[in-house]
Amino acid sequence: MKKNIAVINGDGIGPEVTAQSIRVLNAIAQKFNHEFNYTYCMMGACAIDATGNPLPDETIEICLNSDAILFGAIGDPKYDNDPTAKVRPEQGLLKLRKSLQLFANIRPITTYTTLQHLSPLKESQLENVDFVIFRELTGGIYFGKKELSEDGTQALDECTYNVKEIERIAEVAFKNAQQRRKKLTLVDKANVLETSRLWRKVVKEMAPKFPDVEVDFMFVDNAAMQIIINPKQFDVVLTENMFGDIISDEASVLSGSLGMLPSASYGVCTALFEPIHGSYPQAAGKDIANPTGSILSAAMLLDYLNLHDEARLVRQAINWTLENKFVTKDIDPINFYFTSTIGELVSDYVLNNINPQEINQENIELRKSTII
Ligand code: IPM
Ligand code: MN
Repeated sequence: MKKNIAVINGDGIGPEVTAQSIRVLNAIAQKFNHEFNYTYCMMGACAIDATGNPLPDETIEICLNSDAILFGAIGDPKYDNDPTAKVRPEQGLLKLRKSLQLFANIRPITTYTTLQHLSPLKESQLENVDFVIFRELTGGIYFGKKELSEDGTQALDECTYNVKEIERIAEVAFKNAQQRRKKLTLVDKANVLETSRLWRKVVKEMAPKFPDVEVDFMFVDNAAMQIIINPKQFDVVLTENMFGDIISDEASVLSGSLGMLPSASYGVCTALFEPIHGSYPQAAGKDIANPTGSILSAAMLLDYLNLHDEARLVRQAINWTLENKFVTKDIDPINFYFTSTIGELVSDYVLNNINPQEINQENIELRKSTII
């Protein structure tokens, strides 16, 4: 199979984690006889530095003409700490989401037995936690009217949703629930917000079309608490843009590290795959970032291309690294491996260059960090 993949490295640790995903995709291509062609394009602070524009038109063009997009991360502290900055890296990502109509952001929350000790939650609460957040990504307060009064003393961010925007993501979430444990929880603030009441109405009206799916409704403040006290109750969580942003970061602590989580954004054309972590500028260039979120995003990309055996092998390889404690510094600050080593190990596993039974621990130990 021949596929064209647009690659947006972005800022901070974006380039180094994405490089490991490309390495793994290349291993998959070699093993299964595929051809993946990559076109690199710019977005974020690096694009501002180079062109003055966080999302050059060329990037949109390349993305639209590709079969899938792999994205790293964006953001730079020089913009975070300057509220007067007119151009910001995040504008690039928001514009890309809007231009490609990437309305459904899917964030699977998985826990790993080997990482349970890293979560602030008790191990008993983490058993059997496996849910997925469907976050609406192209509407709501993120894209509403924004205003700052002339004297700078008053600001406005409007939140709007229409029925179509709700229906199209709800449809994807319902269908996914049918493939899973058949439970869908709509997270909203219907006791206060008009938009939330519309979400509830639309989801209630759609429910009879999916009779095998049990639907329940939860206010977002309660959901924030339930994710901590009883996360295994969730299967598919459906929510609007801003709530989804917040609860997905919260839910990431269940897996032990933000660096573990992948995401997919589906729309009407090319889909985009990115780890949920940010650009983590403090770690940039040090080869210490966790590439797992990115590599698992590449696995979601393979699933999207209908390469399911390939995706399964990548996930199996990641599980194997975790079981053997081949982990980065965020997971084990003392005995850690480099970003590039994890990518190498995962690729070697994919290519059968590693026999898990006869692994040469000494060779791998050599690639372990000695910085303590
Ligand atoms: C995310 C990020 C983005 C968001 C930022 C970088 C604009 O936090 O993908 O979750 O808020 O959507
Ligand atoms: Mn976020």
